[in-house]
Amino acid sequence: MTETVTPPVLVTRRLADGVLDRLAPPAVTLHDSEQPMARAELLAALPGRTAVITTLDDRVDAEFLAAAGPGLRIVANHAVGTHNIDLAACAERGVLVSNTPGVLTEATADLAWALLLAATRRLGEGERLLRSGRPWAWAPTFMLGMELAGTPLGILGMGRIGQAVARRAAGFAMPVGYHNRSRLPADREAGARPLPLDRLLAESRVLVVTCPLTDATRHLVDAERLAQLPPGAVVVSMTAGVVDERALAAALASGHLFAAAVDNFEHEPAVHPDLLAQERAVLVPHLGSATVRTRQAMGGLAVDNVLAVLAGDPPLTPVV
Ligand code: GLV
Repeated sequence: MTETVTPPVLVTRRLADGVLDRLAPPAVTLHDSEQPMARAELLAALPGRTAVITTLDDRVDAEFLAAAGPGLRIVANHAVGTHNIDLAACAERGVLVSNTPGVLTEATADLAWALLLAATRRLGEGERLLRSGRPWAWAPTFMLGMELAGTPLGILGMGRIGQAVARRAAGFAMPVGYHNRSRLPADREAGARPLPLDRLLAESRVLVVTCPLTDATRHLVDAERLAQLPPGAVVVSMTAGVVDERALAAALASGHLFAAAVDNFEHEPAVHPDLLAQERAVLVPHLGSATVRTRQAMGGLAVDNVLAVLAGDPPLTPVV
């Protein structure tokens, strides 16, 4: 009779090509799908695991930890964000948590700029117009957008991604201000000016939101804060839940905002219907880190964290 042994590592989603090569098949159970595991399936797969590689769709809470049992040593999140994880519950049980910072910075900053350009130059609208087959003609007044040179850019959240967004602004000749929990050392400010939140909002024609979602930042950019932006401003939201999606749609509908772009949504895969109704909203399906190189690096870092802990070492990128 063959004895069935639970592999020590559970991976809850298909990862980029080659990422799992360093975890030999007997060591890993892979949920080989682009869809997340159903909750019941996840809970049933947890008992006896030493390590779990999770994504933002997997809620890691007391129920998850109880299902895994006392052998669980690390939850390696395949994301820089950790809002799917009850960090206090993990700490209480001595379960380590790691994320994937650093490796997704440049790809995510590129997407922020792609969205910024798409929103200010009305690319979504233009594409939809051509595909609709409706008649159109070039005209001096046709589909005019916002010019970037000299336009003040505000960055809310000046972590790695915010800094990378700021560095790119030099190429567009935009003056940059930022608001962050704490002021950065000058060599990491990329020429951006630190500002209190009220001033950042009042002075930014384009606002890029990159701060992580925490209890303190949920709906930080609400109707009131959107109203503080100058008329005709553009908002680019790179973190789900920080910008209130309903308020954003209302600010577009009233004409207060010129345009907006959103990459992450609060209730993914659902997109707020009010946003879907706005022509001036550029909406993309959580593509910030979606390049081959970055997804391989994120997966590789999650695997490195697991291998380190299985070898008795601390994870490379622990969440503090
Ligand atoms: C977002 O997609 C993240 O990696 O946290």
